Amino acid sequence: MQQPFISVKDVHFSYPDGTKALFGASMDVYPGEIMSIVGQNGSGKTTIVKLFNGILKPTTGDVIVDGKNTKTESSSKLAQKVGYVYQNPSLQLFRNSVRDEVAFGLRLLKKPEEEIQKTVEESLRMIDMWDKADEYPFLLSMGEKQRVAIAAVLALGPEVLIVDEPTTGQDFKRAYQFLKLFESMNKDFGKTIIFITHEMRFPAEFSKRIVVLSDGKILMDGKTHEVFGQPEELKKSYVYPPAIVQLTAKLNGYGFAQDVLTVDDMHRELKRIVEENSTLNRAAGEGN
Ligand SMILES: Nc1ncnc2c1ncn2[C@@H]1O[C@H](COP(=O)(O)OP(=O)(O)OP(=O)(O)O)[C@@H](O)[C@H]1O
Ligand SMILES: [Mg+2]
Repeated sequence: MQQPFISVKDVHFSYPDGTKALFGASMDVYPGEIMSIVGQNGSGKTTIVKLFNGILKPTTGDVIVDGKNTKTESSSKLAQKVGYVYQNPSLQLFRNSVRDEVAFGLRLLKKPEEEIQKTVEESLRMIDMWDKADEYPFLLSMGEKQRVAIAAVLALGPEVLIVDEPTTGQDFKRAYQFLKLFESMNKDFGKTIIFITHEMRFPAEFSKRIVVLSDGKILMDGKTHEVFGQPEELKKSYVYPPAIVQLTAKLNGYGFAQDVLTVDDMHRELKRIVEENSTLNRAAGEGN
């Protein structure tokens, strides 16, 4: 059995003001996975992933990252292993230029300046922001700020990339490009990707596994089609499967495979069923 890269063990977490956000959460993240964490507002999604890279430490329980307990590992070491792109990118941006913003983490790691400049350019090109390298991050649009925040995390080359609400503030095309970028980081570079999202259509297409949070507890954790295949259980967390999955469930009994998650899957199934039927009809015709 593969060792998890991140292991959350019976974690309870309370904020300093006493708000309790997690009630005994346990989950593992395996190297090379691409997964989503979903759940309604305030269910604890952001809290749990901030525990993954030590921004927050468990009140009770443990989080183990690459064999090390986050309670004792340094934040800079954890940030190199697990990158977190904030839900609100303004909280992540402090420097005077986009270029400096992306270079910041690398400077902390005392990398040579030549290497820093090269990595900054590569990271900004990846998210199509190289032409804005000298702009003031504070004045960028929400979507652009988020792209700079992503570049700053990519530059550190972490094993795990966590993106909190990657589609917020982006138009559909840009949101889709983003998800494709993370998908290729997973496929081509073996990065572990964790999306946090409200939008069910994107996890259906891009993630193999879904963890559903509800009131600070893990309600469900499984393969995407298995989780979406239990709408009654999902309802408890006010999460609804994408329309195409709901349609497939209604067509149960008509020969549709029940692992349909996307329009492309549905197209494949429709084609198969139509072709099978026309073969049967032809055979029946020949039999007459
Ligand atoms: N800094 C904080 N101080 C006190 N309570 C907090 C803080 N941040 C979050 N909470 C509370 O902790 C709980 C979990 O919040 P969290 O932000 O993890 O949820 P979420 O699932 O990410 O929600 P959203 O979908 O709105 O981003 C909520 O009750 C929230 O109000
Ligand atoms: Mg959140």
